Amino acid sequence: MPIHTTDRGWVLETRTTGYAFGLNQAGLLTHRYWGARLPDPADYPAAPNPAGWASFNNPAQLTAEEYPGYDDIKFIDPCLKVSFADGVRDVVLRFESAELRELDIPELLINLRDTMYPFRVTLHYRVHEAYDLIERWVTATNHGETPITLERIWSAQWHLPLGGEYRMTHLHGRWLDEMHLRSEPLAPGRKVIESRRLTSSHHHNPWFAADRGNADENAGDVWFGVLAWSGNWQICAEVTDFASTRISIGLNDWDFAWRLAPGEAFATPPSYAGYTAGGFGGASRRLHDFIRDTLLPHGHTLHKVLYNSWEATLFDVDEPSQIALVELAAEMGVELFVMDDGWFHGRDNDTAGLGDWWPDERKFPNGLAPLIERVNALGMEFGLWIEPEMVNPNSDLYRAHPDWVIHFPGRPRTTGRNQLILNFARADVQDHIIDRIDRLLAQQNIAFIKWDMNRNVSEPGWPSAPGDPREIWVRYVQGLYRVWGTLYERHPHVIWQSCSGGGGRADLGILHLADQIWVSDNTEPTARLAIQEGFSQIFPANTMEAWVTDMGAAEIPLEFRFHVSMCGSLGVGGHLVRWGAARREEAARWIALYKEIRHVVQFGDLYRLRSPQAQPFSAVQYVSKDHSEAVLFAFRTHLPPPAQLPPLYLRGLDPNDHYEVEGVAGARSGSAWMHAGLHVELLDFQSTVRRIKRV
Ligand code: DGJ
Repeated sequence: MPIHTTDRGWVLETRTTGYAFGLNQAGLLTHRYWGARLPDPADYPAAPNPAGWASFNNPAQLTAEEYPGYDDIKFIDPCLKVSFADGVRDVVLRFESAELRELDIPELLINLRDTMYPFRVTLHYRVHEAYDLIERWVTATNHGETPITLERIWSAQWHLPLGGEYRMTHLHGRWLDEMHLRSEPLAPGRKVIESRRLTSSHHHNPWFAADRGNADENAGDVWFGVLAWSGNWQICAEVTDFASTRISIGLNDWDFAWRLAPGEAFATPPSYAGYTAGGFGGASRRLHDFIRDTLLPHGHTLHKVLYNSWEATLFDVDEPSQIALVELAAEMGVELFVMDDGWFHGRDNDTAGLGDWWPDERKFPNGLAPLIERVNALGMEFGLWIEPEMVNPNSDLYRAHPDWVIHFPGRPRTTGRNQLILNFARADVQDHIIDRIDRLLAQQNIAFIKWDMNRNVSEPGWPSAPGDPREIWVRYVQGLYRVWGTLYERHPHVIWQSCSGGGGRADLGILHLADQIWVSDNTEPTARLAIQEGFSQIFPANTMEAWVTDMGAAEIPLEFRFHVSMCGSLGVGGHLVRWGAARREEAARWIALYKEIRHVVQFGDLYRLRSPQAQPFSAVQYVSKDHSEAVLFAFRTHLPPPAQLPPLYLRGLDPNDHYEVEGVAGARSGSAWMHAGLHVELLDFQSTVRRIKRV
C-alpha cells in the first residue's frame, strides 16, 4: 500500500518519490516533504511547528499549510476564499477525519471543517504509483441551511523543499506560435500564469516545472505539475517572506463565483504533480506514460496516417474537389481522409453556417454518403471537422435561438471570426448539440472527428443563470465535457481530436475525451520544430497531430517537412492535386517509412537530444519500451559556415546491448552510442531519420 498513516500524518509513496503531510502541534494540516522516496516511512520529517517571533510574523504566515484557507493573520496566497450568508468572509479549516480507500488507485481523503459553519472541505489524494504522480483535488460541501459563495477554490498548493532557490519553467505563446519554453528564477512575491479566455488557451498552458536552476534534460531535481481542465485556470508560484516556495494550481478566481446551495458539493478539477531526479526529460516521460496509459480513450491504438483538406481547399469543399483529393491520398498510403471546414449548410466562408450541422445541399446534393463510400472503397476511414460550440449570426440556429449565446443583455455581442459562442452552460444548448452531432455520427460512417473552437470569449454573460452568472466559466466547461462525453459514450470507436485554432485547447482535461491535439495552425516546419518541442514537455507523441503542408514548401525540402511531422502522428495537408506525381511518390515513400516506425514514435519513450528552441541543430529520439529499437530524427535549420555539427549522444538504450544505427557501419554498445555519440552530416535545411535496432 503506497499510503502510510501515522497518528498525525500521512506518507504517499510512488515508485521513486515520497510526499508527506500531517498535523502539527497547532492542529494545522502542514506539508512535510516532497522529493525522493526515503527508505522508511518513519524517515519523513515531522510536521513543522513555526513560532511567531514578532508582531508582523504570525505562525500562520510561516506555516506551510497543505491547503490554506483565508483566515488568521496570513497573507500568503490561500487556496480557498468563501463568503458565508451572514457576511463572514474568512474560512477557518481544521482537521476532522481521514479515510483511506484501498482501490486500484489508492485514495486518501482528508476532511477539514470550518470551526463555526457547517462547511466541509475534503482534500482528495490519489497515488499513481507506477507513474510517480500524485493527484489532488478538492470537494467543498455546504451542510448548512444558507448558501455559501465560493470565491476561490484551487485544486492544490504544491510546496517545494525549503531552503532552495527555484527556477520556474512554463509554456507561453499565441495563436500560430504556441508552446514556447520559458524559464525564470522565482523571486520573492508571486509569479502568475493563467487563462481568462474560457479555454486553456494558446497563450499559457496549465503546466509548470520547477528546479533549482541546474536541472537539464537528463538530470537534476524537477518538480512538475498540471491542471486537468479545459477552461480558465491559474498557476501562482509564490516565494514567501521566509523563502518558502509553493506553487498553487486551480480554477482561475478571476470573475469567478460559485453559489453553493444547502446540501450541495463542488468538486475542483484534478491536479497531477510529480518529482523526478531525471531532469525535464524524466518529467515529460512520466506525464507521457500516464496520459497514454490512463487518460486517453484509445491511448494504445496506433494512429492512422491522415489527410486533412483544410490547407488545400479551405471553404471550397464539394463532392468533386474532395473526391479528387481522396483518390490521390489513397494512392499515397493515407489511411484516414478528413474533410475540414466548409461542408455544412450555408458555409462558403467564415461569415455563415456555424450551428447548422447538416451537409450543404449545393456542395453535397446527395449528402455525404457518396464521398464517404468512395473513401471507404479505397480502404480509408472517413473523418469530419465540426465546431459545435459556435454559431454564426448568419445561421438558422442563431435566427431561431438568439438567446442561446454567451452575452450581456443590452450590450453589443462582439463577434470573433464572425461568430458567437453558444452558452454550453445551458442544458438546452447541450441537448441540442448532442442531438445534432449524434445524428451525424449515427447516419454516416465516421471514424474521426476534429472538434474545433475558433475564438476567445467576450461579454461573458448568462442572463438566465439559475445561480450566480459567474458560474458560467466552470459550467461552460462542464457542459462541454457533458456534450463531448455523451457523444463519446454513444460512439466509442470514434477518435476525437481537440483543436482550438491549433493548440488553444491542449490540456489533460480534454484528453479524457480526445486522443489527439491539433498542435498549431502554424505548419511551417522550422517553426513547428520549436512548437513540437514545447508540446512534448507535457504530451506524448501519439497525441501530436502533425501535417505536411505547403507552408514553407518553396524553401524547405519535402523530406525535411515529412521528418518534422513524423515526430508525432503523421498527417498530410498539402494540395495533392498541385503536388504532381513526383512529389506524391516521394510522399508515399515517407508514409511507408512512417508506418514502419510509428509504433516506436507513438508509444516509445521520448528523449529530446538537442533543443530546436535553443539551437539550429536539433534532434529527438524515441525508444521502444523494451529498448530493442529506437528512431532518431535530426534537423539542421540555418547555421553560418563553417559549421561543425556536434555529436548526438543517444539516450535510453541498454548500455551493454549492441545496436546498429542506420547509415553507420557496425554495431556498437548502447553505452558507446550514448557516451561517444554519433555524427550526422547535414547542410542547412537538411534532416535525417535513422532507425536503431538491437542486434
Ligand atoms: C482552425 C483550425 O486550427 C484549422 O486547422 C482549420 O480547421 C480551421 N479552423 C477551419 O476553419
